[in-house]
Amino acid sequence: MLCNVKRIIVISVFAIAFVANATAGEVEVLHWWTSGGEAAAVQELQKMLQKEGHTWKDFAVAGGAGANAMTALKSRAVSGNPPTAAQVKGPQIQEWAQLGVLTNIDDVAQAEGWDTLVPRVVADIMKYEGHWVAVPVNVHRINWMWCNPAVFKKAGAQYPRTWDDFFAACDKIKQAGFIPVAFGGQPWQEATVWESIVAGVGGPGFYQQALVEADEQALASSTMVEALKIFKKIKPFTDKNAPGRDWNLATAMVIKGEAAMQFMGDWAKGEFTAAGKVPGKDYDALPAPGTMDVFLFNVDSFIMFEVKDPAAKAAQKAMARLILSPDFQVAFNVNKGSIPVRSGISEAPFDAVAVASMTAFEATASYGGLLPSMAHEMAVSPAVRGAMFDVITNFYNSDMPAADAAQKLAAAVREAKM
Ligand code: BGC
Repeated sequence: MLCNVKRIIVISVFAIAFVANATAGEVEVLHWWTSGGEAAAVQELQKMLQKEGHTWKDFAVAGGAGANAMTALKSRAVSGNPPTAAQVKGPQIQEWAQLGVLTNIDDVAQAEGWDTLVPRVVADIMKYEGHWVAVPVNVHRINWMWCNPAVFKKAGAQYPRTWDDFFAACDKIKQAGFIPVAFGGQPWQEATVWESIVAGVGGPGFYQQALVEADEQALASSTMVEALKIFKKIKPFTDKNAPGRDWNLATAMVIKGEAAMQFMGDWAKGEFTAAGKVPGKDYDALPAPGTMDVFLFNVDSFIMFEVKDPAAKAAQKAMARLILSPDFQVAFNVNKGSIPVRSGISEAPFDAVAVASMTAFEATASYGGLLPSMAHEMAVSPAVRGAMFDVITNFYNSDMPAADAAQKLAAAVREAKM
């Protein structure tokens, strides 16, 4: 009798294992989330997939904003061996889809109701010829300034709301022996700071013309010259080790109280969270001066490549489904510093900065203040973005006058558009 029971149990265990194995597949996922906060966030997806019996093959390529990851992806795709999914954003999604290498995930989207859950402005970026080929993960706000209140206090400085206030605070902080601005001298970080200044100096309408429509007159205008001057004026308030510094090391300077501020998207909050820091107590996040009414958005997403193996396909679909599930949207975004990309998620698990971001996302959308980030591949083609990056980095790292840089911006963009 006991023997029979044992046999039944053994058979059942094998049967369950067989059923699980029949649908369990591997996903190889390319991403560039390697900092403390980023890694904690992406592990949530790994854990959820593994819980469903799938295997995660990590294809992490370090390097902020993903330039290295994109190079790695291209070489794998050229050799006919792309991963299952890759972190790709904005107009680049369309470029990959045009190559005919992406798979249509409309079935998952329909079953999960993505068309009603995901804002139209985001859904349009994820679709190619009306079909879902990418899955959005989150919404990051770019135009934040991360501040260490203890450093401000010791320097007797106030949080700035205008660029004049900002430079007045920088003077005090420097005199008190701290580094006013934690800065990473890499082209994408320079462009990230510059675009917030453009929005702050010119307002949402000007940002739209200059960095979304890439309008040559706006790029060469006196407003742009003013924005460039402010950008360059920050340099003496950074330290000598800024060139080449990774963004998360700059965030660490603010966390440790070596520096007072950093301009960076809210993935920086992921670093504060990973270090156990609390907003409103250990640090504060303010919109960059003059950008209260602007939300420069950056949506991370995964494109899904065509895969043949049925088990891998099942794993790929599970990944797509899980990414927009409420549990993942909370677990991921709490660690990442971003906000959920789908509706119907409670604010309760999120901190005050995330809630402020959610409020600003809704509010700015109602009057044209919600604008795509140029630096983070949401706004212009890769060619135009590359042209802007070149001029901005040359300008910041040379003694080029701001008026020349504005002319060069217009000319480089004109050429890139041809
Ligand atoms: C991505 C973020 C990432 C950041 C730093 C941005 O372009 O959207 O997810 O954390 O780069 O690597």
